Amino acid sequence: MRVGIPKESVPGERRVALVPDVVRKLAAKDHEVVVEPGAGEQAALLDAAFEEAGATLATDAWTADVVAKVAAPTEEEIAKLGSGSVLIGFLGPLTQPATIRALADGGVTALAMEAIPRISRAQAMDALSSQANVGGYKAILLASEHMGRFFPMLMTAAGTIPPAKVLVLGAGVAGLQAIATARRLGARVTGYDVRSDVAEQIESLGAAFLELEAGKGAEGEGGYARELTDEEKAAQQEELTEAIKGFDVVVTTALVPGRPAPKLITAAAVEGMPQGGVIVDLAGESGGNCELTQPGETVVEHGVTIVSPLNLPSSMPEHASSLYARNVQALLDLMTGEDGALHLDFDDDVIAGACVTRDGEIVHDGAKQAVEAAA
Ligand code: NAI
Repeated sequence: MRVGIPKESVPGERRVALVPDVVRKLAAKDHEVVVEPGAGEQAALLDAAFEEAGATLATDAWTADVVAKVAAPTEEEIAKLGSGSVLIGFLGPLTQPATIRALADGGVTALAMEAIPRISRAQAMDALSSQANVGGYKAILLASEHMGRFFPMLMTAAGTIPPAKVLVLGAGVAGLQAIATARRLGARVTGYDVRSDVAEQIESLGAAFLELEAGKGAEGEGGYARELTDEEKAAQQEELTEAIKGFDVVVTTALVPGRPAPKLITAAAVEGMPQGGVIVDLAGESGGNCELTQPGETVVEHGVTIVSPLNLPSSMPEHASSLYARNVQALLDLMTGEDGALHLDFDDDVIAGACVTRDGEIVHDGAKQAVEAAA
């Protein structure tokens, strides 16, 4: 099987879909890997390292049997994919209807990393988790950079510094990593989520669970939270406005797939935070969890710095690429038969779940609805 790795073209995307260590493993299985020159440069992976691992450097990575990308391709890039070719990447099945339509029209068999079922068997392919881990870690580093205070408690000859108080809203993969990272830095940490099984996970990391009445137990489908009703949302905002008052740092990660991010923090809640406080809003790409968030910007409101980085995993391109590449490798393994040739088994839950376009059709329900809604 021939696997193509094009250079990412979206501005600010520094990751690459395969790294030399993974290329070496694929080459050992007699797969041919074609890497576009410079594809790994922004992740500190030079062409020579790819070549040494067994890849070929060439600009025709788009004509491979399987093309692996990080970000969704542009329309010009989709035009370079032949009909019947296979593409894997973060394709935005629920959020990028124009891309999905173009992939279907181009006859591409497209597998979206976001659509891989969150089941045990597919954990090694779970790129949402691997990248959310990077984001959760980096969110805490950003908070500490923007705060004029220490995270840990310090007892010095010049006096004692109390530990920072950190609140993490949304305790999925990113939130739990933010909690763990803030704990490692010595902060006093509290976590919150609407899903009921999360309290135990938060407490197992040495953090306290913030229990609110509004939205309690709001489990949705597939392990995700459901969207709260308008009454629940208002009640949750009110309770959070009170709860947030004592925290120096708030990291927000709350998302509901395919929906705008829930607004958990009102302007009044920001006003109630201590001067010099920091909010890091990881939900900026879906509109943000804070009313005053400006996605992609850093703003100061009521003396509180609100940071909303976009594509945070890309700011740690080496490890983000390395984890993503292992997700891609696990998916490629599932896509090949014993003879090493490409064999897509659409009776397999993981392949069927991840597939968004095939034979000119959109075959993923959520993607179909998003395309119809955008038409
Ligand atoms: P996500 O990125 O979709 O959302 C982040 C968090 O926000 C979630 O924990 C969600 O409950 C929370 N949230 C949503 N609305 C909220 C609100 N109004 N207020 C407060 N919190 C709110 O979630 P992520 O990180 O992708 O994880 C989703 C689920 O998938 C989790 O249950 C996780 O344990 C599960 N999972 C399962 C895996 C597996 O079995 N292979 C692998 C990874 C995750």
